[in-house]
Amino acid sequence: MPEPVDLRSDTVTRPSAGMRRTMMEAPLGDDVFGDDPTVNRLQEQAASLFGFEAALLFPTGTQSNLAALMSHCQRGEEVILGSEAHSYRYEAGGLAVLGSIQPQVVPNRPDGTLDLAEVEAAIKPDDPHFPRTRLLALENTITGRVLPRSYLSNALQVAKKHGLATHLDGARIFNAAAAQNMKVKDLCAGFDSVSSCLSKGLGAPVGTVLLGKNEFIQKAKRARKILGGGMRQAGVIAAAGIYALENNVERLKEDHANARRLADGLRNAGFEVSGLNTNMVMVMVERPQELGDFLKAKNILVLSRNPMRLVTHLDVDAAGIDRAVAAFADYLSRSRTPGRAAGTARAR
Ligand SMILES: Cc1ncc(COP(=O)(O)O)c(C=O)c1O
Repeated sequence: MPEPVDLRSDTVTRPSAGMRRTMMEAPLGDDVFGDDPTVNRLQEQAASLFGFEAALLFPTGTQSNLAALMSHCQRGEEVILGSEAHSYRYEAGGLAVLGSIQPQVVPNRPDGTLDLAEVEAAIKPDDPHFPRTRLLALENTITGRVLPRSYLSNALQVAKKHGLATHLDGARIFNAAAAQNMKVKDLCAGFDSVSSCLSKGLGAPVGTVLLGKNEFIQKAKRARKILGGGMRQAGVIAAAGIYALENNVERLKEDHANARRLADGLRNAGFEVSGLNTNMVMVMVERPQELGDFLKAKNILVLSRNPMRLVTHLDVDAAGIDRAVAAFADYLSRSRTPGRAAGTARAR
């Protein structure tokens, strides 16, 4: 069996030999006491890279987002966020379950943005009937789509006009920055908090950093403790994060090029590609389970959904992409041959 080409997500990467070595050799302490030198180094490095006063290491993006929301909003207060936002759809309702925060949802447009007129209309007046609207939360990239800096600036202006705080789920902010040839510092300027995952395109096995002002990060530290995220010799994780920031940021453009290669290959093979955004490709398929099973037999791993989201990352190279394209093409040609596997993919 050839090596797997795993296109399910950029979270599937495994730490490289260099990263593992750094983790093994990291000086450690007890981070709940604040004396893990490697955690402190990562937090200082991240704060400086993002242009914020302070940073805090979390085990996951889910916990970091929730701690941020809990630090911005009190019980019964409200966050405005997109209908596709990870914090709203894919974090098991933690903001409501654990934060007692009300989500006010605004639909994401096809480009991933929120209509700012709709955002303004969703802000509640000061009236005891309503929850107090406290926070606007955006996500960049959102399913691979980049929110451009000009849009972010307009959104920040709307929030400021109405006295709302702002949070950015920047799980893949480095992909957004790479796609626009920008620094994350410039892309994140003006937000009150940013959450950035080290465990996605950057290739660390675990870890997310939350950025904000000193006072905000102190609040978030308490929320992290409530959520069970106070870790002890967390330098083992932080070392992977430092390695990721120092070695795996510049190369994100390779993932974007591989996504383009994949999209072109699939189009040429006869598939309908409905989206190509940073490191994600969306393909229309009619029988996702059948296609997924066919690909799995060739050790090409996908999530069997329609549209099918394929994600490139540092454990898939151009040769792997070509193998995946060949497997998709093989599937399509068999499905068009009478008596072979039934057709599942929609041709262009
Ligand atoms: C946009 C976004 N935010 C947050 C998260 C949560 O990260 P984690 O899986 O580390 O909890 C994810 C995970 O896929 C994500 O895609």
